[in-house]
Amino acid sequence: MKRKLITLMIVLLILSVFTGCSKKESAPAEDDYKIDYLVLVNKLNPLPSDWEDNLKTVHFTNTIGDDVEVEQRAYDAYLKMKEELNKEGVFVDLDSARRSVAAQQAIVDEFTVKYGADYTAKVVAKPGYSEHHTGLALDLYLIIDGVDVVENEDMVQYPEIWAKIHEKLDDYGFILRYLPEKEHITGYAYEPWHIRYVNDSKIAKEIQDKGLTLEGYLGAVKETAPVIDYGDSKLFTREQLEEVMIRIKCSFAAWEGCELESLRYAGDEYSTQEQVDWANSQNPDGNYIGVVSGFSDYHKADKKFKDYQWWLACNQEGDWDIVTSE
Ligand code: DAL
Ligand code: ZN
Repeated sequence: MKRKLITLMIVLLILSVFTGCSKKESAPAEDDYKIDYLVLVNKLNPLPSDWEDNLKTVHFTNTIGDDVEVEQRAYDAYLKMKEELNKEGVFVDLDSARRSVAAQQAIVDEFTVKYGADYTAKVVAKPGYSEHHTGLALDLYLIIDGVDVVENEDMVQYPEIWAKIHEKLDDYGFILRYLPEKEHITGYAYEPWHIRYVNDSKIAKEIQDKGLTLEGYLGAVKETAPVIDYGDSKLFTREQLEEVMIRIKCSFAAWEGCELESLRYAGDEYSTQEQVDWANSQNPDGNYIGVVSGFSDYHKADKKFKDYQWWLACNQEGDWDIVTSE
């Protein structure tokens, strides 16, 4: 009897080594792994200081040969989505996902030299304030007929491919983060390539179906739709004025607690040579050739602000800068 008991104990010990214990040792992290998949990082909210204490990431090499680092679950979800997209003849890879503060600074520096500070503020976050620091933001690029399409201006030429991709996002726990016409909330121009993992397809579906921003879903800001009036300009095209309005909206998103009600083109009479000269005197490196003014109405809590004026100037290349607002 005693021998039987000892044998049984030995068997149980061996079994526990190969089952429960060994399992615990090889994958203990999964149960303990907790990060806030709904973390909000934007122009007003920096990366939480303890974020990296808990973050688990994976690295891989993309088709360009660059190392890409992604949060582990976001990467698994991405791979599954990519496989489904491949079945539909859509091929993608990741240009960039997690970025350190230093890497973000390098992008800001590169873009500032190439495109100027104002354009950079429209498309690239300040170091410390980029969602890319979380590892949950993924920048896709397209592979078309075996060719990598990576530059922003090239990627936007394929709206029908992006539509196919965006349709699949919520099934895999992703949302489209920077929506057109929501620049006054997100602070950034539309980016079809920038997707955000929220680790929950139900939440992702609600956000996607309602066309919400993450800010709106979390209740951090009200999802408002400001009235935009492009007026009737003989000097500027609708496209140029749309760019001006986007620039103003991106800037407005950093005004804490303010809700934009309306934005309107001030009129051709504001675009005089005198104003161009004044814009150049404000920024001698601007080489401005044109000026546009706009008015906005907004409120902060119960306080209303009317006819807040913006002045923007553009150079020969069509790049716009906000010269001042008052
Ligand atoms: N392009 C996004 C806004 C970033 O730089 O984080
Ligand atoms: Zn991005």
